[in-house]
Amino acid sequence: MKNILLCVTGSIACYKALELLRLLQKEGFDIKVLMTDSAKKFVTALSFEAISKHPVYDDLFDYEESSIEHIDLAKWADLIVIAPATANTIAKLANGIADDLLGNVVLATQAPLMLAPAMNQQMYKHITVAENLQKLQNRGYDILATEEGEQACGDVGEGRLLAPEVITSKVVELFAVENKDTPHVVITAGPTIEPIDPVRFISNHSSGKMGYALAKSFKALGAKVTLISGPTNLEIPYGVKGVDVKTANQMHKAVHDTINRADIFISAAAVVDFKAEHSANQKIKKQDQDQSKMHLSLIENKDILKSVSLKDYGEDKRPFCVGFAAETENAEQNALAKIERKNLDLLVLNQVNTKTGYPFYHSNNSVSIYDGTKTLVQIIDDAPKEAIAKELADLIMVKFSCYAQKSARDKEKGANYACN
Ligand code: PMT
Repeated sequence: MKNILLCVTGSIACYKALELLRLLQKEGFDIKVLMTDSAKKFVTALSFEAISKHPVYDDLFDYEESSIEHIDLAKWADLIVIAPATANTIAKLANGIADDLLGNVVLATQAPLMLAPAMNQQMYKHITVAENLQKLQNRGYDILATEEGEQACGDVGEGRLLAPEVITSKVVELFAVENKDTPHVVITAGPTIEPIDPVRFISNHSSGKMGYALAKSFKALGAKVTLISGPTNLEIPYGVKGVDVKTANQMHKAVHDTINRADIFISAAAVVDFKAEHSANQKIKKQDQDQSKMHLSLIENKDILKSVSLKDYGEDKRPFCVGFAAETENAEQNALAKIERKNLDLLVLNQVNTKTGYPFYHSNNSVSIYDGTKTLVQIIDDAPKEAIAKELADLIMVKFSCYAQKSARDKEKGANYACN
């Protein structure tokens, strides 16, 4: 997971930084907020604290957290985003003035800096501002454009803060470019739905939260991510390629349309195991049925994960295959059997609570992670799915890198490797 220090300086556009914080968080970044004194005159620190779940940093001489806060923050950040950046802040940074926390952090960091100016259109056109921005750009700062339009003072022109969505996509792009060699990850998520007739279907309680959180985490690590999802209420994360499907058959096709270009396959979807042998073209009427009983003939759906993990890739590389197991009883025994049956490199076991359905639809999950040799690698107890996804993404990246090296060396297809 990447860390971003969001620095907010005193502009009428400060309120947009709250939305920026929220959008960056949705991308899976960990965000801490630094505010200048003038920024706090526009928006309270409390609002940023409530959303970021971190204290707001505003005082160079606050020794409560750390004796050298500006150094800690400067080292913690993988990226510093200054948004909105006022003419005053731009001038101070251009001249290396370090009379507050922001000035010190910026001098002490080795992280890349992105700056989104916001000011009155006449100020933005001023030669001093233009020269200062040029200076910072020459120093390697990523200086974002501004938007043209009506300003708070009533003027119309250049100088409005870029929309939070656009700044967010610039940040995502920056990390994606930085990590262009990282793998292509294909993830399935959500339930499938199998029609019985035009208005009825068989499905399950999967919300897609686990799979979507994984997609976000891999994106934040700079991976190329394709998310193949059954019906959910969730938004496809920024920068992730989404493919919508309904049935297991459609999911199977979508997976195989992309799998030859994949490095990692993660099957987090709750694929419905059985579908109606014949789905009726018209709504089935009660009187069509024999009295009080209705017989529905079911046939097995294809096992998507197995079709990927056991596929013959010829000269192509076999992706690193991660399965999930949702078990209500004999959890470990059933999970370990799945590793073998489905030829998996990693398996994430979730124990399903028979009364509440946990972790289906819940925001938290508890998982035990096993590698391809059935060795227990990690247990994570009752944590938010986002947190589990971050840990899993880090672990999968490590295991995948070992797997890729071994596969290249051995040129052996379809084998399970224990990479520690
Ligand atoms: O979506 P959420 O509400 O966040 O809940 C997350 C989750 C509980 C759905 C998720 O963590 C999870 O466990 N997904 C897999 C659920 C499941 O179908 O488990 P299974 O034990 O029946 O299947 C084993 C594996 O085979 C899974 O990786 C599954 O995706 C895959 N499978 C199963 C059947 C099938 N026909 N094709 C498959 O690919």
